[in-house]
Amino acid sequence: MASAASRGRAARRSQPAVTQHEGFLRHHRFFWLKAALVLCALAWLGYALIPAADGPYGGTWFGYVLGTTGAGLIGWLTLLGIRKRTMTTGRWSLKAWTSAHVWLGLSLIVIATLHTGMRMGLNLATFTWALMLIVIVTGIYGVIAYATLPAAFSRSAERHTRAEMVDGLRTIDRQLQEAAQPLDAVSAQAVAAAMAQDAFAGGLLRRLSGSDPHCATLAAITMLREGSNQDASLKRVIGLLAKRRAVLDRVRQALRQRALFEVWLRVHVPVTIALLAALTAHIISVFYYW
Ligand code: HEM
Repeated sequence: MASAASRGRAARRSQPAVTQHEGFLRHHRFFWLKAALVLCALAWLGYALIPAADGPYGGTWFGYVLGTTGAGLIGWLTLLGIRKRTMTTGRWSLKAWTSAHVWLGLSLIVIATLHTGMRMGLNLATFTWALMLIVIVTGIYGVIAYATLPAAFSRSAERHTRAEMVDGLRTIDRQLQEAAQPLDAVSAQAVAAAMAQDAFAGGLLRRLSGSDPHCATLAAITMLREGSNQDASLKRVIGLLAKRRAVLDRVRQALRQRALFEVWLRVHVPVTIALLAALTAHIISVFYYW
């Protein structure tokens, strides 16, 4: 007969691994949200209750506490970039780190803003604070992007769709090559230019727009449609080009989705670097003018 302990172990094994599948925001029953709230409450209490002769600002002793906490947090939040590239599980899993990153990152809105004592102006301190807010706002965008991302939009699903679309284009291009044989040199050249254009080329802005103002396939369709002699072979080529364009539209929509997902990190990380530089300058200037 199985002992109570072994039955307990078996029951635990058969339980769904809830913690593995819960999102990073809820990690460990919102542990990091609670930690962030406690931190914010302490910061607020200190700000409201500790007397300061010239009013609260970064230069009081409590202002220094808030500033040091904020700077320490920013330094630690930056380390996520390094942590992301190392694999471990458990208490300090990447999910735990990301959870702490998000909630403690948000607590900076309170901590750093109270540190300023609401004395904003055209100065390095306010600039540093503004950079921090940009990093935080882009971080919020990132969390929303993660949350709203369709489950199918994983790297492997994306590779699969991409391979499917490339295959689709190849098949159409093989048919086009044959169908374009009877065309005159200028028309054949327009078709060749359409086939030569790389469907996946283009910078971030192009990908975000989901369209290509210099689409050679569309240019070829427009040109061929203008021709006076619309014989059967020309009509077949135009039909194939229209199919090609439909596949290209799908490619552009897929690229747009991926770009919309990536764009925030392209701001989050470089502005973090600018923030670290501004923060270092801010700290040095404070000690210089001490
Ligand atoms: C000043 C505060 C912050 C700093 C300095 C900071 C910095 C960073 C850095 C360096 C990374 C690593 C990027 C990479 O290597 O790919 C990162 C990732 C990330 N940050 Fe922040 N961050 C801050 C605040 C926030 C906030 C407030 C949020 C959300 C509300 C947030 C959400 C994220 C997310 C979702 C990731 C990506 C995690 C992943 O891809 O696994 N960050 N952040």
